[in-house]
Amino acid sequence: MRPLRVQSRPFARYGSALHLALPEPLRAGERLALEVSYCTGSGPGVCWLTPEQTAGKQKPYMYTQGQAVLNRSFFPGFDTPAVKSTYSATIKVPEGFTAMMSATTWEKQEKDNTFIFKMSQPIPSYLIALVIGDIVSAEVGPRSRVWAEPCLIEAAKKEYDGVIEEFLVVGEKLFGPYVWGRYDILFMPPSFPFGGMENPCITFVTPCLLAGDRSLVDVIIHEISHSWFGNLVTNANWGEFWLNEGFTMYAQRRISTVVYGAAYTCLEAATGRALLRQHMDNTGEDHPLNKLRVKIEPGVDPDDTYNETPYEKGYCFVSYLANLVGDQSKFDTFLQAYVNQFKFQSIMADDALNFFLEYFPELKKKGVDSIPGFEFDRWLNTPGWPPYLPDLSPGDVLMKPAEDLAELWAASSLDMEAVKAVDISAWKTYQLVHFLDKVLQKSPLPDGNVDQLSKRYPKISQAQNAELRLRWCQIILKNNHEAEYGKVRDFLHSQGKQKYTLPLYRSMWSGSESAQVLAMETFSATAPQLHVNVQNYIKKILGLKPPLGSALLERM
Ligand code: BES
Ligand code: ZN
Repeated sequence: MRPLRVQSRPFARYGSALHLALPEPLRAGERLALEVSYCTGSGPGVCWLTPEQTAGKQKPYMYTQGQAVLNRSFFPGFDTPAVKSTYSATIKVPEGFTAMMSATTWEKQEKDNTFIFKMSQPIPSYLIALVIGDIVSAEVGPRSRVWAEPCLIEAAKKEYDGVIEEFLVVGEKLFGPYVWGRYDILFMPPSFPFGGMENPCITFVTPCLLAGDRSLVDVIIHEISHSWFGNLVTNANWGEFWLNEGFTMYAQRRISTVVYGAAYTCLEAATGRALLRQHMDNTGEDHPLNKLRVKIEPGVDPDDTYNETPYEKGYCFVSYLANLVGDQSKFDTFLQAYVNQFKFQSIMADDALNFFLEYFPELKKKGVDSIPGFEFDRWLNTPGWPPYLPDLSPGDVLMKPAEDLAELWAASSLDMEAVKAVDISAWKTYQLVHFLDKVLQKSPLPDGNVDQLSKRYPKISQAQNAELRLRWCQIILKNNHEAEYGKVRDFLHSQGKQKYTLPLYRSMWSGSESAQVLAMETFSATAPQLHVNVQNYIKKILGLKPPLGSALLERM
């Protein structure tokens, strides 16, 4: 080992560059072993929680979150999804703590509380993840365990016991071998900013999924789908994020259709479409981040691409490709060939689309990439609402009753007899979500209706399910229903998921004076609990910080 000259140079708001001066130039293909000794404190990717910030409130906790470009605060490396590598790690923890990583094998050396991890498949840097805390595990399937703090482990096991394996088996049937060995799930502390994070071998999820009735299992199916789309075939840069998320949404809904049927899956997809509508209404359709292919240029933080466009517009584009093929099983076979072709690689949208056209030469000959209005180039490079929407009518049996009921509640004179005639006691969570989405769209409701709605349906207004709580809070705010502001406060105190938190702050901030006061009070009380990225996005909404240097974000 020879010491090298090292220099850290400014790169972007979200990181700096490590420059190493080699004593002499290397020849192409020559190998070099580099050892970097470094310390990391708290960075956006490395989160240190006090005991109060955990579910059990007894012991501290630490976890890392790499995606999109946060792992550069965890370890020095090529923090781009274009580069893949294996890794190993030796983690020494204090007595009474357990470490877990996104690795294919691990063992514990009891004598010195040391855990040894190895990831034997090449992965991009953003998928390296570490957690250390008072965590225990329970078996829920032949290759799956749930991990959680001791006080949550029973609930975690109950939520997913015996259900995970079927998703994996269906995924393998559709998309090819599951190469990661185990599929475990770690329930994170409440401040975890995402619904789920597809760290290989061990998905990290929000504890909000512990609904008691498996109703939020679509998040698990989503993260499992990344085992093929994202973790095997990876977007080569964050401007092509839709390749990860759009294909994953499509794969998620394929698995869901096989396991739960088309009606349920279309209902879930309709709630996704409603989120895309809300997002485009908020940002303006022509916002540059509403293109599938985003330019990551100076001033654009790759994390800003985390919005509904790559997910739901991406889903529409993949559905459009399936529609061009016209035969579901042929398209499924294509997806499997796509994974096989590009596994362990990082690709651009052009690679995917060229492969599609080569795979279906008759479509290529027809020129399907340049049908006016649906050009592949337009899909990728034009912001705005998708030119093609998949048919969700198989979901009508579940959606129509919810839409009709919302209609009744929005009418200028409330027909209570008609309302009473509708029995919602057997409705699934996503039917209630769909109903609430429609009520929200029609809000503000005529005076007094929200109050009556609240009293009529305690299973909605008193819900513990996070998806229902989010919608109910949005309805409270849009209707300026001050009597239930406490519920908004409680929900924001109870968890810190970005997709729940930001819409509520946006809604409070664009609402009445009392809603704005609620926003300020809630933020000052909860800020220390929140992930630093989420804190920064809220500050921006509340005008508490000078612009982050991102012109693109101004209207987000
Ligand atoms: N990979 C994402 C989470 C993510 C995206 C983290 C960008 C950091 C930057 C994960 O797979 C995801 O999409 N989670 C969703 C789940 C949902 C679409 C079912 C979430 O957290 O809401
Ligand atoms: Zn995802």
